[in-house]
Amino acid sequence: MLRESGIYEVEIIDLTEKGEGIGKIDGLTIFIDGGLVGDKVKAKLSKLKKNYATGELLEIITPSEGRVEALCQYRECGGCQIMSLSYEKQLELKRNSVVQTLRRIGGLEEIVHVHAVIGMEYPYEYRNKAQFPVGERGGEIVVGFYKKGTHDIVDAKSCCIHRKVNEQIIEIVKYYMKENNISAYDEKSHKGTIRHIVTKIGFTTGDIMVVIVTNSKKLKNANLLAHALNANIPGFKTLVQNVNMDKTNVILGKQNNIVYGEGKITDYIGSLSFEISPLSFFQVNPVQTRVLYEKALEYAALSGDETVFDIYCGTGTISLFLAQKAKHVYGIEVIQEAIDAARENSVRNGIQNAEFFTGKAEDVVPRLYEQGYTADVVVVDPPRKGCDEKVLGTIVEMQPKRVVYVSCNPSTLARDLKYLGENGFKVKEVQPVDMFPHTMHVETVVLMSRKDK
Ligand SMILES: C[S@@+](CC[C@H](N)C(=O)[O-])C[C@H]1O[C@@H](n2cnc3c(N)ncnc32)[C@H](O)[C@@H]1O
Repeated sequence: MLRESGIYEVEIIDLTEKGEGIGKIDGLTIFIDGGLVGDKVKAKLSKLKKNYATGELLEIITPSEGRVEALCQYRECGGCQIMSLSYEKQLELKRNSVVQTLRRIGGLEEIVHVHAVIGMEYPYEYRNKAQFPVGERGGEIVVGFYKKGTHDIVDAKSCCIHRKVNEQIIEIVKYYMKENNISAYDEKSHKGTIRHIVTKIGFTTGDIMVVIVTNSKKLKNANLLAHALNANIPGFKTLVQNVNMDKTNVILGKQNNIVYGEGKITDYIGSLSFEISPLSFFQVNPVQTRVLYEKALEYAALSGDETVFDIYCGTGTISLFLAQKAKHVYGIEVIQEAIDAARENSVRNGIQNAEFFTGKAEDVVPRLYEQGYTADVVVVDPPRKGCDEKVLGTIVEMQPKRVVYVSCNPSTLARDLKYLGENGFKVKEVQPVDMFPHTMHVETVVLMSRKDK
């Protein structure tokens, strides 16, 4: 008979989507945070329910074959769930998860081959954007990350998936706060000034933007901070104060005051340039974004004569990539600000054959088709919930030669591939790409073509 607080030996046989280890004791499923497939562990039952239990990892009795010493010393942040697995094993795990999901949900037994995941040569320091909460403990300023599932700040000196320069930026901001007697924000009392330090870095250009999020309209002696950043941080281009006086978990407010520089930086994906501002969206791993988009472009196999639909186009990055090789690209996206950015990005890059429509894809795509628009190639890059069935139905009616599906969620990808598979398309290629090393996240690009071609 199992009991809460009891200590048990468990073999980890699988991982959840969040990266928790899954084991069985007497047939009951137990979730153990920190366990890796192949580990034999000692765990204390922390919660016992009818259908499952959770356990606290006490000791690794026999480590999994792929277990390594994680580079990070702040594991309580919970951000990199599988960092204790060697990178090679992480990539294998991600490929297996795509294969299993396509089989289980998509019924895609006939998939002969899911390519090996394209990983990073150096799977660290890959994020171009960082958001550090600022607080106070025992009279000292603390800056770092929230402890998993809480708003307690872990005072972290470094983070190996962020750029090293962030450490210096944090030190400079801390020093500026002390020297100028500027307080850190306290969530509970909604008092204090500095809430977050946000940094954005152009990997190609080396440009750096620092954003100080404040619970006040003014930021005392902000020019002194700009001066210190300028003197010590190579590549520093702009300092922005972002005002956020709301009681909210949303990090950035709407108002930006430029303290120094232009309030924006530039970066490139391939030969295309993009403007990055405090509030704009830009893919956080630009190195792998390029790999992903090049794969999508390769699968689209454009000769210059094709009309392409890029559905769920965001700020138009894929659309502009495709437009360089297509006759015409139509991008469809629900967020107006993203469409505005897509149009600005086209002008900025001298692209004249991309056109953008705002609205829900499930409304816009059928309407465009009714009006006579059609596509030779369709690219979709939907949110986690996948494509709306009306969108898939219209793609089927359009009969494009190829569909390129870019997915951040293997489960909804599998469901949508099943639908397209039952309606005249077949899967030709499946290529997972690792956009977020050390997390469970996997991005997948799939090429489908018409069965009758
Ligand atoms: C995975 S992102 C695509 C990002 C884009 N390819 C890029 O590179 O910027 C999914 C996009 O779908 C948009 N979206 C979500 N629901 C939508 C809907 N019903 N119709 C159109 N776009 C939608 C989101 O706003 C988001 O920009």
